[in-house]
Amino acid sequence: MDNSIEIPKYAGVCKLEEACRIGLPIDDNVSILKRFNYIKSKLYDIMVKHMNRTPEWEVKGAMSLHIWLDAEHITSVRKRVSEMREPPLYLDKIPDPKLETLMNELIYSSTTVELLAGIYGVIRPSLLAAYKEHLQLTNPLVDYPTCRMLKMLALDEEDMIQWGQQALQAMVKTNQQLDEMNRWMNHVHAYLQDAEGITGRQVYVESVELPAPRAIKPFEADFVPRRDERFTDIYNSVLSADELYQDKSRDAKERVWALLYKRLREMDVPEMQCSIVAETKGKPWEYYHDMGRQIWDEARHSMMGQVAFEHMGIDWTKLPIRINFSYELNTMLTPQERHAILYDIEFGLMPGDTGKKYEWNISREAGYALATTFHDHDWADEVLHAQIGRKWIVKDVGGVQETLDMAKKAWKKLEDGRPAYPAEDPDWWQHFYDQVKDIEFK
Ligand SMILES: [Fe+2]
Ligand SMILES: [Fe+2]
Repeated sequence: MDNSIEIPKYAGVCKLEEACRIGLPIDDNVSILKRFNYIKSKLYDIMVKHMNRTPEWEVKGAMSLHIWLDAEHITSVRKRVSEMREPPLYLDKIPDPKLETLMNELIYSSTTVELLAGIYGVIRPSLLAAYKEHLQLTNPLVDYPTCRMLKMLALDEEDMIQWGQQALQAMVKTNQQLDEMNRWMNHVHAYLQDAEGITGRQVYVESVELPAPRAIKPFEADFVPRRDERFTDIYNSVLSADELYQDKSRDAKERVWALLYKRLREMDVPEMQCSIVAETKGKPWEYYHDMGRQIWDEARHSMMGQVAFEHMGIDWTKLPIRINFSYELNTMLTPQERHAILYDIEFGLMPGDTGKKYEWNISREAGYALATTFHDHDWADEVLHAQIGRKWIVKDVGGVQETLDMAKKAWKKLEDGRPAYPAEDPDWWQHFYDQVKDIEFK
């Protein structure tokens, strides 16, 4: 028996010396947290505006996750600020014009290498260092809610940085790209230094000369979706996967393949959602939080298809993965019409005999356990999305029927104005299915 062991004091949060740290006053604490909130909300905005023009699917997928993680972080920081005796909160106010200049430069990243270099090579590592510094400065007992929050933020931030740095390593293959990466990191870093770092309190030994700004006029986002060179048949909409998986005369296995293809093709949903969010201004923060979650869910739905194809050794990049849907919505409709269409689709997925429950059942009846798990979660996500739709677009338009009517008109607008797409292989599904029909589901 060790009699020297005592019940930990102070709920095990810290030692006496740490609890005696004078730490940061509430005023300083709030002003730093407001800077975190601002930088994070600009990161969210930058990723949303770069989603369509970024060609690499893996980058789109990770940005979808990071949009949601940043949204979660912003919500936590805003809540914490609201607990710190400072109303009015001014959470949507720019805390420092130099931070605004910095983030306006970052959004002008012109290639994926620059985008990743600025976000994952400069801003996120500096944010992480700022959280760690804050944890060292503040009193860990009296400011426990801030400390717990920052520890959680740091865990996510580390994962995001790790992804970004590995992605940069993979993308920077030539000296020219290395040069491009370093030049842009120096550019962004100079503006960060001019803002005295993330916290506005960082002391730099050497002075900095600001490079000529790129942001000389307001940034205009390009919502034409792009895909990298692996994707070759990007306008092919011959197969209506919806008709195929519902066709009871087809083999159960073929119907599950059609469902998995349908999941894979959902990479166009985050693209259209990002254009909605980017062009919808002035909503309460909760709107952007909900939409961030939905963006990540839809990217995950596409990854469900990707995983299933990869698990069975199929090169999914050779399948036609069209951009028609996001291209048409982003370029031919208003943000409200796009959102009404999204709601119309998700509303249509709710009936048990044709919607998400039915998709789950098809996977289950075909005896494919992985597809069953995927569609179980896909179903749950879509129920959430229908609720998010009711909360925002239905309220905006003035009712469920009104939103469905708006969607109907918007579908018609697409049909009437649809551009002529390049020729497509009308029999690709048969060619594909002939190759896979003898593969056993694992
Ligand atoms: Fe989905
Ligand atoms: Fe959805």
